[in-house]
Amino acid sequence: MKALVLAGGSGSRMRPFTHSFAKQLVPVANKPVLFYGLEAIRDAGIHEVGIVVGATAREIRDAVGDGSRFGLKVTYLRQDAPRGLAHAVLIAREYLGDDDFVMYLGDNFIMGGIEDFVDRFRRDRPHAQILLTEVPDPRPFGVAELGSGGRVVGLEEKPERPKSDLILVGVYLFGPAVHEAVAGLRPSRRGELEITDAVQRLIDRGRRVESTRLSGYWKDTGNVDDMLEVNRLVLETLEPSAEAGEVDGTGELIGRVVLGAGARVLGSRVVGPVVIGPGSVVRDSYVGPFTSIDRDCTVTGSEIEHSIVLRGARIDGVGRIRSSLIGREARVVPAPRVPNTHRLLLGDHSSVQISR
Ligand code: G1P
Repeated sequence: MKALVLAGGSGSRMRPFTHSFAKQLVPVANKPVLFYGLEAIRDAGIHEVGIVVGATAREIRDAVGDGSRFGLKVTYLRQDAPRGLAHAVLIAREYLGDDDFVMYLGDNFIMGGIEDFVDRFRRDRPHAQILLTEVPDPRPFGVAELGSGGRVVGLEEKPERPKSDLILVGVYLFGPAVHEAVAGLRPSRRGELEITDAVQRLIDRGRRVESTRLSGYWKDTGNVDDMLEVNRLVLETLEPSAEAGEVDGTGELIGRVVLGAGARVLGSRVVGPVVIGPGSVVRDSYVGPFTSIDRDCTVTGSEIEHSIVLRGARIDGVGRIRSSLIGREARVVPAPRVPNTHRLLLGDHSSVQISR
């Protein structure tokens, strides 16, 4: 069995971050969201992974490499533009051969992995197996309609009037029959070849399509609030460990706190769950719950909570920051006292909320 991981999407809802890097690499508890998926695939006993990459191919390659550090053998498959999930299956035809495979969307986060889902497929060997979960608003997703006995009878991509509140999670299992179903598909209204349409074709042709209900937490990490939520949940599962770092006499760690190698907490109060990456320094500051600070950052004379701070950022003397995502090497510093103004240097599609 192989895996096909999709990491080509452009991440328009995650701008400005995705102007400079892949949305699948936004860190959750200081680890790219994509890595959780790769680990889940490995833990399900799958070792050959094709990663579909697009405009951000270089960063994904730099981050994942040949996959050996995950215990995986990774092959990169180039998609010229984000033409849809079914298009990814089309271009992976040769790589996949006639093997069964799991298709995993690189920006999806699933707590607890996919082992049970994969085991069930291996046991029952349907032509396709989809993973469903209930959401309050199904309209932005693929929606499933179930018939008697829980059989999937219909699927619709982003319907205006959903027939149920059960949506397709971004993990699918396929046997080789899917290749006939993706061949000759027409682009949908949004101009993409939809995997939802391919699965519908399998159903229409009388192929066996099974569904499994996801019991645990799942998120399609499309925007900043989603990232913060996933970050919060992962931080809640942390095993505290501060040995690799340093806390001075007036520094204090409370609750689940992880310090990376050489991280320093000086004259500061850190209330977990919090992770502070290698080489980062927190000085005369407060770091509150649900905060991930990546490597080589400095936080000085500031307060921050419920936030994600990426590598090399500097936050210096700015009071309280909440529910924020701060990019690599970003600087957040006070303006001069006179004139009393905000001075902003914001990238395209940035968003700033200023308290008056
Ligand atoms: C894709 C699928 C959709 C599925 C969703 C899960 O949507 O097309 O059926 O419910 O992933 O994350 P997209 O992210 O392309 O909008």
